[in-house]
Formats: sequence, structure tokens, C-alpha cells
Amino acid sequence: MKAQLETEGPTSHGPPADQGRPYASPKQQGPLSDSALRKQVEKLNQIGIALSSETNLERLLELIVREARAFTWADAGSLYILDQGMLYFHVAQNDTLKRRTDSPPGFKPYPLPLSKESIAGYVAITGEILNIENVYNLPRTVPYNFNPDFDLRNDYVTRSMLVVPMKDREGQRLGVLQLINATMETGLVVSFQESVEHLVMSLASQAAVAIRNAKLIANIKALFQALIRYSTSAIDARSPHTAGHSRRVAAYSEAMAVAINDETEGPFRDVFFTPEQMEELDYAAWLHDIGKIGVPEQILDKENKLSAEAMGAISTRFDLIKSLTVNRLLHHRSSESKKDPWRNTAGKEMENAEQEVDGELNFITKVNRSPSLSDEDLNTLKEIASKTYEDLRGNARPYLTDTEVECLSVKQGNLTDEEYKKIQTHVEHTYNIVKNIPFTQTLKNVPFFSASHHEFLDGTGYPRGLTSDGLPLQARILAVADIFDALTAVDRPYRSAITPSKACQVLKAHAKAGRLDQDIVNLFTEKALYNKT
Ligand SMILES: [Fe+2]
Ligand SMILES: [Fe+2]
Repeated sequence: MKAQLETEGPTSHGPPADQGRPYASPKQQGPLSDSALRKQVEKLNQIGIALSSETNLERLLELIVREARAFTWADAGSLYILDQGMLYFHVAQNDTLKRRTDSPPGFKPYPLPLSKESIAGYVAITGEILNIENVYNLPRTVPYNFNPDFDLRNDYVTRSMLVVPMKDREGQRLGVLQLINATMETGLVVSFQESVEHLVMSLASQAAVAIRNAKLIANIKALFQALIRYSTSAIDARSPHTAGHSRRVAAYSEAMAVAINDETEGPFRDVFFTPEQMEELDYAAWLHDIGKIGVPEQILDKENKLSAEAMGAISTRFDLIKSLTVNRLLHHRSSESKKDPWRNTAGKEMENAEQEVDGELNFITKVNRSPSLSDEDLNTLKEIASKTYEDLRGNARPYLTDTEVECLSVKQGNLTDEEYKKIQTHVEHTYNIVKNIPFTQTLKNVPFFSASHHEFLDGTGYPRGLTSDGLPLQARILAVADIFDALTAVDRPYRSAITPSKACQVLKAHAKAGRLDQDIVNLFTEKALYNKT
């Protein structure tokens, strides 16, 4: 190891892979010429603009290290972010290792305690810039040491280092930028020029401002995401039948979008969702049923054709009918016995009458719970509904009210037409709620995507009856995810969950009938993407 240090460094070293270097290379020692300096300042301005337009923190950190390395001809570079007294290793770029393995250098992001014993820690604490000629030959007087773990693990030799604190305009230190091995065109590793120190410092402070902004944006985004996730989960949890639904629809949608991005052949080979489009789809999926807040809970939560209260009222009424019938028969018996004391058939009649009323109530109870109603049962129901009894005031009353008959007569499921329409309005509520969220330009389609999850390609969906021309891939993905979860979710009203393979058959039938996107259904079912939640 040491022998290597005394030579030109690793033979695989060469100029960093970045193209287009308008700046001075390390071989140009001494003060920079006016034109070289002007070029560097211009480049610095360009980098500043690039940094200020990148809002994704991870991409920003990569950009900072890449630009700083290009600026200084550094073979490698890394970046630490200071957070709650610890330095977190975020970026590791190394051209030599990249050329060797064609994969990023092997390193484990680990937090470093903020201490003057490490080079990065020293710079973070003191705010000093360190320009080290050879890290393996540090003066005994300095408090910091070089940790050779990375070199040993990766068979790499670190030699020169330029370590710069990243401070914002208020002087607050946000992290440390570490540039490694200034490399000449010949591959010779040399020290970093003193003349680039102030330029790298300037770049580091621009980077610090950009990091601060990106962190702020990331925090706001995380807050907004959490708010959306908690509020939609709370709406889902209003009914045990929909608890967790939006989360699962978002997970299935993401799995489909990722799988589409991975496709290199077939119908999706040229389709790629950008990170912004992935984010847009995620918001649309989480928000797609937020409009259910506008649908009464008793409809959303309806487990049977009638509510427990309505069924309780019928039960009480039928008890009354039974009592009134028995009373009527008793009264009849007492007047008959006066005429003919030897004749008494009322006991049997009472028993029959009681059995009849009980049988009718049992039948109603069965119909109430049944997910479907046969024609025969409908006729029986109509017969019961046509019957009346005489109340205590002598008024004729129907066995069942019109509303009860309407609810019990539903042939499939347990919702009346009116209730079904009310449930369907949730999509319009979703649109009206989501369109009022001030999404940025890159997320502008969230309201449309989220409100299109019940549309079918053949125009038979709702609310707008859109057809394939008007339904982008994102809306088609949401439709598949939504139906799959509705079929497989446990604890749904009037039927138990079906298995994923049966649900896939249903999706395929919808696709075959032209309602769902065939290619998406194929992808979802063949790759069993429902397992990726
Ligand atoms: Fe929905
Ligand atoms: Fe849904």
C-alpha cells in the first residue's frame, strides 16, 4: 500500500469521466490567468443555476459532488450532511472504481459522530477548509486521522484531499464536501491547487443554499404526503369494508407503473413514467376515493338490505301483529264459546297464526341478508307486503312500508338504485375536492386521474362515460387497481373476498369485454403484481 503511495497512484487513475472541462487542470500550477479565472467564474454561475433548479435532494447532492469534482479534476468525491450532531454519508462517486467494476463504489452509508478526530468532522466543526497533500502522511500535530477502511475494502488509494464545509449565507454548516485525488490527464495524482480553494468554497456555499431549499421542499412534501395519507386512510376507516383501500390501490398502481418502466419489449417498451409522473399517480391513487366523505355512512357501510334499526322495527311490528292476531282469536273464541261451549278450535288457529307470522318474519330476515333475490322469493315478498293488520286504533296498516319493500326487493347486492347513485357521486366529490388542492405544474393531472377510476374504455363507466381516447394509462392503471382491491379486500358488504387468482379472472373478463386495458391487466395478472404490496 505504502509503496503505491510513493508512485503515481493507481495505474487505473485517469482524468475524471466527466466530459467538457473548461477549467484549469491540476497541472496548471500557480495563479490562474484572467481568462481561465473568468471561465471558472462563468462555470460557477452556471452550476449555481443548475443547483437552484434541482429540488430533489438526492439528485441535488449527486450534482454537487459531480460538479465540484469536474471543477477540480478530482477522481472521487463524497458528501456528508450534518444532522442532529451526526454526519451522514450521502454520496460516493469514484471514477476509478466505476471504471473497474462499472458499478457504484461499495460503501455503506453510515453516520459519523461529529468529532475533530475525523477529517470530515474536523471541517464540519471548525468550518476550515483542508487541502491535504497526502492523507497517509498527515502531520502529527493535527487532531484528525484518515480512516483507511474505504481504501482497504475497495482496493483504492486515497492521496490528496480537498475538504470544504458547506455553509449557507447565515454561516450555518449543513455538511461537508470531500474531494479526493486531484488527477492529471496522465493519471498522476497530485495535490489540489490552492487557487481552486475559494472557488470550491463558493460552490459549496451555493450548494448549501440549494440543499437547504431542497430540504425545505422535501419537508413540505413529506408533510403534505402524510396529511393526504392520514386523511384518506381515516375516510377509508369510516367503514370496515374500505379500511386500507386507498393505500392498497396506491401500492398496486405503483407496482404496475414500476413494472411498465422495467419493460423492454412488448406494448410498454417505449413507455416510461418519470419520477414526477410516478408521484402524480401516487397522489391520484391515494386521493381517488376521498369523495366518499360526501356519501352518508349508512349507505357506505350497508351490510344488508335493511339497517339493523329498520330490521329491528320490522321484528317489533311482527311481534305486535302476532299479539294482535292472538288477541283477535281469543276474543273470537270467547264469543264463540258463549254460543257453543263444546266447540273450541281457536287454540289451533292461534298456533297456526303465530307460525305464519313467524315464518314471514324469518323469510324477511333471510331476504334481508341474501346477496341475491330469486323471482319466487320476490313474489313471496310481494304477498307479504300486500298484507295489512289492524292496529290498536282499528286502522289498517301494511305489514311492510314502501321503503322496506323497495330495499328488500333489490335483486342483486343490497343497494337501491337511489343509494347506488349516491355512492357513484363520490367520484364527482373527489374531483371537486382534489381540484382545489394547489398542485404544482408537474402534478396538474392528479384531479383528472383520481376522478377517472370508475371509467371504462367502452364508455360504460362513470361519471363521464369516457372512452379509450380520453383515458390515459394512469386512469387505466387506477381502474385495474381499484377493481382488484374491491374484489379481494376482506370484509366487503354482502359477499366475502375472493382469491387473487379469481379476481384476476374477473379482471381478464372485464378486459375481454373491452372495459379494462388488456395490456395492463395482462401485466398485472401475469407478473402477479398484487403480491408487491
Ligand atoms: Fe371509487
Ligand atoms: Fe376505490
